[in-house]
Amino acid sequence: MSHLLHVISSPRGQRSASHEVANAFIEAWQAGEAGATLDTLDVWQTPLPEFDGVALGAKYAALEGRERTAEEKQAWDEIGALAARFQKADMIVFSVPMWNFGIPYRLKHLIDVVSQKDLLFSFDERGLQGLLTHTRAVTIAARGAPLGAAIEHQNAYIRSWCEMVGIREHDDVIIEKTLFGPQVDAQARRTARDEAVALAGKMRAGG
Ligand SMILES: Cc1cc2nc3c(=O)[nH]c(=O)nc-3n(C[C@H](O)[C@H](O)[C@H](O)COP(=O)(O)O)c2cc1C
Repeated sequence: MSHLLHVISSPRGQRSASHEVANAFIEAWQAGEAGATLDTLDVWQTPLPEFDGVALGAKYAALEGRERTAEEKQAWDEIGALAARFQKADMIVFSVPMWNFGIPYRLKHLIDVVSQKDLLFSFDERGLQGLLTHTRAVTIAARGAPLGAAIEHQNAYIRSWCEMVGIREHDDVIIEKTLFGPQVDAQARRTARDEAVALAGKMRAGG
């Protein structure tokens, strides 16, 4: 049975293009995965630990060869619980608005929290080995304007992160020109929804 994690990073109350197209993908994907389960992680609704002081101490305790303090253990448990939601997923869908050429800061915060040695990757004399080798990912990325590759740090960033944690199969669906008026926006969403549904169909067929 498959398990899908949907990471939402568009704030609620917006008519989010990335969320809308992600829902179309997820619906089509679930249609081909009998009994599939869904976990929704909204970065704006989920408490994320600050990554300073105690959390940082918990991260470096192992490197320093010392036991974690009780406070650090608690912080590490919180981090582990968030990372477990990634470990459990066969499919991760990121719905991502472009913010200043990159991703929203709450999504970056989540990524900084969960991307830890022995949780999402291992690191030894052979170098860095991603642990999510059983996972596939899809990024549904919305942008107000059309962009050239030189200033694209949205999909490019998620793609690099996927490589780091061992995700080998990663697809993108891009919705551009959401700020070019209602007609252009509606057309961009329609095209992207069709593309997302086709991608789910291709995956069902083993592609
Ligand atoms: C803080 C902020 C920064 C943004 N920066 C960019 C940008 O750099 N490039 C761009 O094309 N659009 C930018 N936009 C527009 C959004 O990418 C656009 O509205 C997109 O549709 C948001 O995704 P969503 O509809 O899923 O929420 C920005 C919007 C916000 C709120």
